[in-house]
Amino acid sequence: MTTTTDAHTQTARWTKKDLLGLRELSAEEIRLILHTAGSFREISLRPIKKVPALRGKTVVNLFFEPSTRTRTSFELAAKRLSADIVNISPQGSSLSKGETVLDTVRNLEALKVDVLVIRHAAAGVPHLIARRAAASVINAGDGAHEHPTQALLDLFTIQEKKGRLEGLNVSIIGDIAHSRVARSNIWGLTKLGARVTVCGPPTLLPAQVDQLGVAVTHELESAIRGADVLMLLRIQHERQEAMLVPSLREFRLRYGITHGRLSLAKPDILIMHPGPVNRGVEIDSDVADGPFSVILDQVTNGLAVRMAVLYLVSGAPKVDEEEA
Ligand code: CP
Repeated sequence: MTTTTDAHTQTARWTKKDLLGLRELSAEEIRLILHTAGSFREISLRPIKKVPALRGKTVVNLFFEPSTRTRTSFELAAKRLSADIVNISPQGSSLSKGETVLDTVRNLEALKVDVLVIRHAAAGVPHLIARRAAASVINAGDGAHEHPTQALLDLFTIQEKKGRLEGLNVSIIGDIAHSRVARSNIWGLTKLGARVTVCGPPTLLPAQVDQLGVAVTHELESAIRGADVLMLLRIQHERQEAMLVPSLREFRLRYGITHGRLSLAKPDILIMHPGPVNRGVEIDSDVADGPFSVILDQVTNGLAVRMAVLYLVSGAPKVDEEEA
């Protein structure tokens, strides 16, 4: 399939030490990551899923919040590129004895690591570390701020399935206010020419979200009609001090994607979810596991996208230079 990324000449060169968010990337830089991910995708289909691109580099996963998909796929991505990878969690490190995050990073740098992949509950922590560290920093999710590699894998998946991003209608439904996935997707999708609608109860939409260049609705039916993609988000209780909807049952009744509601959708709708899925709340099982769902394709593509990001921030030769 010819994609929008292929159609654009790859003139961008990666010059950034870090990947902290999609807000600060140009459309060309986003396309370069997607293009690079496209070239890495087939490595995971080989009998021996390994290339020497990052041999001699050391990557550290430093996750202060739980993760299944992001942490595992960064680890696999590093291994498939032949980098060394170390996983650190607060419970199993001297962070639990009172060492600060910055002291932890200083000590890791003394061990000559090259890339720090950081997830933290507080917005801005990866940015703070990136300013102090010589190592490259990849934001694996900071508070409700950004989750750039999730949005990149979402863009990659939409482009793979639809052949383009430009001109598509993407509705993001659910807890937008506490979602770093929503923010990164809004930046990425709008930069690449998609039209974004956000939908949820007023308590779960951030103030002035319309200033991010998106349409806003509280009516699920209008978010479904005409959409090419429905991106569903769980209620992120871990970032809420109080329950912001009357009950999960009420939320499902107003905003849950059920088989019946899909009858309002285009016949080629894509159903996406970053995970973890709360079945029977924002999405029913027969939709999550149904023919329109690309939820597991998103996970698969996350590996190629994270390989691309590790490769680019590590200062490895760019794909086009290697091909030349
Ligand atoms: N989508 C996502 O970030 O999933 P994990 O929390 O499992 O990494």
